[in-house]
Amino acid sequence: MRQIVLWRAAFAASLTALLAFGASAAAQFGSHPDEMKIDVSAYPAEVQSGYRVFANKCSECHGLDSSLKQSRSTKGWIDEVHRMQAMASAHINDREADAIAKFLAYDESHRKAASRAAISAHSDNSSEAIGKQMFESYGCSSCHSVAGQGNTASALDGIRNKRTAEELKKLIVSPPSGSAMPAMDVPAKDLDNLVAYLLTLK
Ligand code: HEC
Ligand code: HEC
Repeated sequence: MRQIVLWRAAFAASLTALLAFGASAAAQFGSHPDEMKIDVSAYPAEVQSGYRVFANKCSECHGLDSSLKQSRSTKGWIDEVHRMQAMASAHINDREADAIAKFLAYDESHRKAASRAAISAHSDNSSEAIGKQMFESYGCSSCHSVAGQGNTASALDGIRNKRTAEELKKLIVSPPSGSAMPAMDVPAKDLDNLVAYLLTLK
């Protein structure tokens, strides 16, 4: 946790330094290439316009990948957008924040949910193997690592020596308030698979 706090502080400090160079430096950083592109052409018109606000406003300080890869519950996205809106030098009004949160919630329940359903459809895989793919699909690896892969600020190796299956389930769907672990809507089946995977980690 301490490491994550330090890492976040370092990230925030480097962003602040960059922003101090002025709008052109910020724009350059914002246009840092994202790995991920999504197709929103089948989304309702209102959601597509929310996507455009998101792509414009949420790329001012960092890329869009973290939002497109990570998961949050609907309330979790509203909270995350408000947290970003409150950052010094953020230029996001309430109407824009609302449109962005609606896009993120829609994308979560459509594109992200569909990619998870496709993973589960490979029913010949073991629960642990599906859970390993779910770990990527829910974006867990942008904050946690396993065997050195992912964000090493918080390693989950050997978590089975520390937490029971029940504790892990509770932690993932309703993290203690004030925790930096975000709340996610994880259906029971995905949760079972994720925890089966976590319990294999040495
Ligand atoms: C003014 C600069 C700024 C803007 C604008 C901004 N962010 Fe951020 N964002 C940050 C900083 C700095 C961090 C890392 C520190 C933290 O998480 O507190 C961050 C972290 C995040 C994270 C967590 C990433 C992780 O892996 O922990 C998400 C998700 C995120 N931003 C989404 C958004 C969204 C969605 C928007 C648009 C509504 C947005 N950001 C706009 C500065 C910004
Ligand atoms: C935005 C970053 C972020 C994402 C995404 C995230 N976590 Fe976390 N997680 C954290 C942080 C930070 C903590 C430490 C919480 C604390 O101590 O308050 C944590 C704690 C945990 C713990 C407890 C670790 C321990 O040592 O007790 C587990 C297990 C865990 N997360 C699993 C997951 C899983 C599984 C996912 C994906 C479904 C996930 N996390 C997604 C940030 C994240």
